[in-house]
Amino acid sequence: MNTHKIAVIAGDGIGPEVIAEGIRVLDEAARLDGGFRFEFTHFPWGCEYYRETGRMMAENGIETLSAFDAIFLGAVGAPGVPDHISLWDLLLVIRKSFDQYINLRPVKLLRGAPCPLKGVEIRDVDMTFVRENTEGEYAGSGSWLFKGKENEVVIQDGVFSRKGCERVIRYAYELAKAQGKTLTSISKANALNYSMVFWDQIFEEVGREYPEVKTYSYLVDAASMFMIKDPARFEIVVTSNLFGDILTDLGAAIAGGMGLAAGANLNPERKFPSMFEPIHGSAPDIVGMKKSNPLATVWSASQMLDFFGHEDWGKILIECIEEVLVEKKVLTPDLGGNANTTEVADEIIRKMREYKR
Ligand code: NAD
Ligand code: IPM
Ligand code: MN
Repeated sequence: MNTHKIAVIAGDGIGPEVIAEGIRVLDEAARLDGGFRFEFTHFPWGCEYYRETGRMMAENGIETLSAFDAIFLGAVGAPGVPDHISLWDLLLVIRKSFDQYINLRPVKLLRGAPCPLKGVEIRDVDMTFVRENTEGEYAGSGSWLFKGKENEVVIQDGVFSRKGCERVIRYAYELAKAQGKTLTSISKANALNYSMVFWDQIFEEVGREYPEVKTYSYLVDAASMFMIKDPARFEIVVTSNLFGDILTDLGAAIAGGMGLAAGANLNPERKFPSMFEPIHGSAPDIVGMKKSNPLATVWSASQMLDFFGHEDWGKILIECIEEVLVEKKVLTPDLGGNANTTEVADEIIRKMREYKR
C-alpha cells in the first residue's frame, strides 16, 4: 500500500482546530479510495513550545522533518511571542531550508462562495498565484545599527538572485503553457530600480522560451486596483515574496474570505518535503470558540492530494467544498452560518461518501 508520511505541525491559535479536520478529511479520502494511506506524526511545535523551551521547534527539527513526504501546517503566532521570532523560527525556516520556492495559491471563486464585488461572475475570479517563497523581500538580510541611539538606522535588504527569479518565473510559464492560460507578472520597476528592473528583465528573458504564452506585466499598485475592478484579467500570476503575500490576502477577500484561502509551499524537485497550509494566521480573535472555518485547510489538503498524484481526490474535495457552499446549510460564521468547525468537516465527509457511492 502506498503510504504518505506526513509531519503535522498544528501550531497556534485556530491551527490545531482546522488541522484536526483536515486530517479527518485526508484519512477519509484514503479510506474511500483504498489504494493509499496516510501516516501522521504530530509535532508540538509553536508558541506554547517556545514558552516552555525557548525554541519554536526542536533543535534537530529540520533534520527530523526531512524524513517526511510532506508537512501539514495549521498556523503560527500567538500574543506574547514576537511575530518575527515565531514566524522566522518555524514557518519561514521550513520554507527556506526545504527550498520550497513555489508558493502556489489559488484565488478562485468557487460556486456558492460569497464575493463582495458587484457584477462579478464566478468565471471572472479564477487565478493561480505563483509567489516566490524563499528570497526577495523575505531574504532576512539587513542590519540594525546604533540601536536605541539618536542615529539609529535599520536596513532590510531585498535579495533577488538570478537563479531564484528564473526558477519561479519558469515554473509560472510552464504552468501557463500546460493550462493554456495567460501569464501576468506583477512587479514595481518604476520605484525599485534594482530588484524589480531585474525581475522584469528575467520575465522577458525566460518568456522568449515560451512564445505560445500570452503575457502581461503590471505594476503592483495598478494590479491591486485591477484585481478589484476587473479580476478576469488575471489567470496565472507570478510575483515576488512580499507582493504575493499581500495580493493573496486581497485575493482571499474577493474569493470568499480567509476561511477559504489555501496554499502549497512546493519544492518542485521533490528533494525536500513540501508543505501544505491554509494561508490564514492563528486568528487570536476567534480562538477557542470553534468558529474557525476548516475549508481553507481542506482546500490545502486537496492540493496535497494533487501533489501525491491523487488528482481525482483533489478534485472531489473541491467539489464537496462547492456543494457545501452552494447549500449554505452548514457554514461557519465567517460565511454567514452558525455551524462549528467540526460540523463543517462532517458535512464535507458526508459529501465525500455520497460521491463514492
Ligand atoms: P489572521 O489570518 O490570523 O486573521 C485575520 C482575520 O481573519 C481575523 O479576523 C480572523 O478571525 C479571520 N480568520 C482567519 N482565518 C480564519 C478561519 N479559518 N475562519 C474564520 N475566520 C478566519 O491574521 P492576523 O490577525 O493578521 O494574524 C494573527 C497571527 O497569525 C499573527 O501572529 C500573525 O503573525 C500570524 N500569521 C500566521 C500565518 C501562518 O502561520 N501561515 C499567516 C498569517 C498570519
Ligand atoms: C503567509 C503569512 C506569512 C508570510 C507570515 C506569517 C510570515 O502571512 O503565509 O501569507 O508572510 O508569508
Ligand atoms: Mn500572508
